[in-house]
Amino acid sequence: MEYSIAVIPGDGIGPEIIREAKKVLDKVGKVCGHSFRYTELLMGGASIDVHGVPLTEETLAAAKKCDAVLLGAVGGNVGVSNWYSLPPELRPEAGLLKIRKGLELFANLRPALLFDDLRKACPLKEEIIGEGFDLMVVRELTGGLYFGERKTVIENGLRKAYDMLTYDEEEIRRITQVGFETARKRRKKLCSVDKANVIDSSRLWRQVVKEVAKDYPDVELSDMLVDNCAMQLVKDPGQFDVILTENMFGDILSDEASMITGSIGMLPSASLGKTKLGLYEPSHGSAPDIAGQNKANPMATILSAAMMLRYSFDLEAEALKVEDAVRSVLSKGYRTVDITSPGSTLVGTDEMGDLIAEEIR
Ligand code: NAD
Ligand code: IPM
Ligand code: MN
Repeated sequence: MEYSIAVIPGDGIGPEIIREAKKVLDKVGKVCGHSFRYTELLMGGASIDVHGVPLTEETLAAAKKCDAVLLGAVGGNVGVSNWYSLPPELRPEAGLLKIRKGLELFANLRPALLFDDLRKACPLKEEIIGEGFDLMVVRELTGGLYFGERKTVIENGLRKAYDMLTYDEEEIRRITQVGFETARKRRKKLCSVDKANVIDSSRLWRQVVKEVAKDYPDVELSDMLVDNCAMQLVKDPGQFDVILTENMFGDILSDEASMITGSIGMLPSASLGKTKLGLYEPSHGSAPDIAGQNKANPMATILSAAMMLRYSFDLEAEALKVEDAVRSVLSKGYRTVDITSPGSTLVGTDEMGDLIAEEIR
């Protein structure tokens, strides 16, 4: 089969990690008889430098024509056109929000799994890690604070900023369904995380989640306040199966969840909507502090490519091959600098990509 993939390297370490993910995909194609056709597109600062905007309508239209989108990261250091002197809607991150909204990708799946061989890279104590953990953050991605009205004004001589947080019941219902469906295929436990003790959108969230739960009697539902959840993630991460939450809470909790897997460089993501066209990207950013130094961990991006094989192309066996290749390279002791520990072999971004591609047979 032939699959067309929109590839968006983006900024900072984006091009370096995307190169390695393509290497691995090409090997999967060779071994399994698929052909992956790439259409390279500009987004973020890279697009601002050329077009003056972080995502053009033409680029969005080109992405819509593909079977899936694979993204590195956007933002970070100021490029040739001084990205952060521009109005907010013209900055690199606005391109990311626009493509998520434009492709109607309301469900962001971020799996935080501790590979056995990374126990030493996990900052938690052995007794807390216990038998390890394997949780999935299901984050709402096209609503909430990120997409509400915002403005900065002068009121009574003071600068004042507004960011509107809204959710309607349909937005909550559809992401909740994704949460329950995800839990149903896993260990059948869903923890809905909100701030219902303070904010109205969370109180509505909790009500709608309870309504949807009636369709999933086989899944055990619990509620947790977000501050408690942040604490429980480092106290006992093994208690979680699926965490369902709104956009901003999911952003923050998934970075926290990534670190207990060893590094933010390990956490992949899939952004999904109602069709098969998904967007796959690591959960981390453009890491300007290490860009261009061959230091970035490409595993989150390679594991995101595996999610693309699974969710957009229905290539489950191929997705497992990629995940097994990552596991195997870790078991042989190879590490990028973010997950290194005594006794391991330090490798750069490109060598890590080579090693993972080699494992795919
Ligand atoms: P970041 O995730 O880019 O970096 C945080 C820290 O983690 C840095 O020390 C970085 O070196 C390290 N890190 C990140 N990815 C790594 C990897 N693969 N391997 C090894 N180390 C890694 O977050 P930040 O510094 O807060 O943000 C930098 C820029 O990235 C900002 O402009 C932000 O808006 C943007 N960003 C983009 C995305 C995206 O495109 N999806 C996501 C998050 C942040
Ligand atoms: C992420 C990033 C983005 C987000 C930013 C860059 C807009 O942090 O994908 O986690 O907050 O969603
Ligand atoms: Mn984030």
